[in-house]
Amino acid sequence: MEVVIVADRQAAGELVGQAIADLLRRRPEAVLGLATGSTPLPVYADLARRCAAGEVTFAEARAFLLDEYVGLPADHPEAYRAFIARELEAHVDFPSGAVQGPDVRPTGADLLASCDDYEDAIRLAGGVDLQLLGIGTDGHIGFNEPGSSLASRTRLKTLTDQTRQDNARFFRSLDEVPRHVVTQGIGTILQARHLVLLAFGGEKAAAVARAVEGPVAAMVPASALQLHPHATVVVDEPAAGKFRQADYYRETFAHKPGWQGL
Ligand code: PGA
Repeated sequence: MEVVIVADRQAAGELVGQAIADLLRRRPEAVLGLATGSTPLPVYADLARRCAAGEVTFAEARAFLLDEYVGLPADHPEAYRAFIARELEAHVDFPSGAVQGPDVRPTGADLLASCDDYEDAIRLAGGVDLQLLGIGTDGHIGFNEPGSSLASRTRLKTLTDQTRQDNARFFRSLDEVPRHVVTQGIGTILQARHLVLLAFGGEKAAAVARAVEGPVAAMVPASALQLHPHATVVVDEPAAGKFRQADYYRETFAHKPGWQGL
């Protein structure tokens, strides 16, 4: 795993935006895995800028969302499909239909079938080339809460109180935050060819340190990144505050060969 400590969110956005632009130049038909929440916004802002400047095109690319709330109207501004349309698609040149999220409208067995269909769609697209990830203060990735199987696939999950409270800032009240979600599983996420996890702010420091330097455990879903051959963790200074090996990560990145990329 590579850990990169950057000065601030904007520097993280530029670094990861550059990696995505490089990927799309190498492989214009790349499949991106998109995260939501506040964390990926600097990356999306950087990609919008690069697209406007003609430095990158998404014209042949495809993308899959990590997760989605269950029970919100499709046009609710916090529905993740609506979030991605607003924060990324509106500013870059994905063709229509190129970005897909799990269909969370069916209920019962049909919802379970829809989760399987989502797995099939990712597989049929050739798998995800680069998956963006945030991390919850409880260590979740996607909406795989602590205790999620490290082999899990796309399925229905129940949010922890901690996650609902963390996300209440996006809603009018805590009561409005859905309890249920559909999320790619940890096993699904681990099949992406490159994982890029971002974390900003001191409130993420404990979770990201446990994920990177603690034991691999279902109770810290993000620790599953340790099982992946190409995982990059990009953090700002406050989020790096609890690493034991921070100096080593800084030294490694400072002396990284220029040709290597992320
Ligand atoms: P945030 O959420 O980006 O809004 O902090 C991250 C997450 O819960 O995965």
